[in-house]
Amino acid sequence: MADNGSILVTGAAGQLGAVGRTVTGLLLERGLPVRAMVRREDDRAAALRAAGAEVVVGDLLEPADVYRVVSGCRRVYFGMSVSAGYLEATVTMAAVAREVGVNALVNMSQMTVSQMGIHNTTPSPQQRQHWLSEQALAWSGLPVVTIRPTVFLEGFFLPLTSPTVRDRGRIELPFGRGKTNPVSSGDVARVVAAVLADPGPHLGRIYELTGPRSQDMHGVAREYSDALNREVTYSDISPEDWERELKRHGLPEHLTRHLVTMAELNRAGRYDRLADGVERLSGRPAMSVREFVSLHADEFGGRRS
Ligand SMILES: NC(=O)c1ccc[n+]([C@@H]2O[C@H](COP(=O)([O-])OP(=O)(O)OC[C@H]3O[C@@H](n4cnc5c(N)ncnc54)[C@H](OP(=O)(O)O)[C@@H]3O)[C@@H](O)[C@H]2O)c1
Repeated sequence: MADNGSILVTGAAGQLGAVGRTVTGLLLERGLPVRAMVRREDDRAAALRAAGAEVVVGDLLEPADVYRVVSGCRRVYFGMSVSAGYLEATVTMAAVAREVGVNALVNMSQMTVSQMGIHNTTPSPQQRQHWLSEQALAWSGLPVVTIRPTVFLEGFFLPLTSPTVRDRGRIELPFGRGKTNPVSSGDVARVVAAVLADPGPHLGRIYELTGPRSQDMHGVAREYSDALNREVTYSDISPEDWERELKRHGLPEHLTRHLVTMAELNRAGRYDRLADGVERLSGRPAMSVREFVSLHADEFGGRRS
């Protein structure tokens, strides 16, 4: 089994704040060789190459592509966009990793899986696929480390609250009085990079990751207000209106059903979570909502001086 020492990072292109992209940068900063898998050659692939990664192009749903990109790597981060083929991609990766032989497979999952079981599923096709994926990986006998973050600040709160905060000074979400505790995907990436750099002590472990404070959306809005030095309020909109709005933007059905389920679970208090994984593994406290909004103040319409 050849080992070129490289760490494979899938889903490495991503948007700003994507886990794979940030993990690639963090591993390179540590001086570790990274093979970054992207779906196509574009500016993002060029940027990864310029940063020092070996860039490989492939489709995680094509077994031959997965075999080609995994071969030679003994440590793998597996994560990709929320999409209908997630379970198939996971099982393909597991089959290849068994064939090639890897020392560590770090699997991105979701914290809702901690609440799921045969008699406790959710209507989200993504959450069901993560739950099944975790089981398939357990049956595979591979040396797996499971990462279960709660909702992301970058992947959810930034795109879904910045337009209304910018235009009306309001967070409009159907979360009712449910508490939530979003985590920065930068913190998630720091945890993944720490595990990949020295996987031995983490094999077989499950890490739950949240931000530092679970609070309802009025509390979240106060953190936005503090960060932007102007009033931001929370408006509890109807789940039906929110779903209509998501559909109007033409999101794929799989993603829409996932987001609608997340909102339902938030409303039901199921995102009232607190875990210390970020600080324990990365050595730094998890980023707060206020810090996150301060960092992205321009996208939220700017900070009043
Ligand atoms: N967002 C949240 O609130 C949240 C919370 C907890 C857990 N998670 C989990 O985090 C993961 C998503 O992480 P992320 O936000 O870092 O990912 P992401 O940025 O949405 O996606 C990463 C990359 O996956 C690539 N990709 C998609 N399909 C592919 C395929 N068939 N072959 C090869 N590459 C493919 C995409 O390539 P292109 O850009 O070229 O399309 C994208 O760049 C999911 O497992 C999700 O369930 C998310």
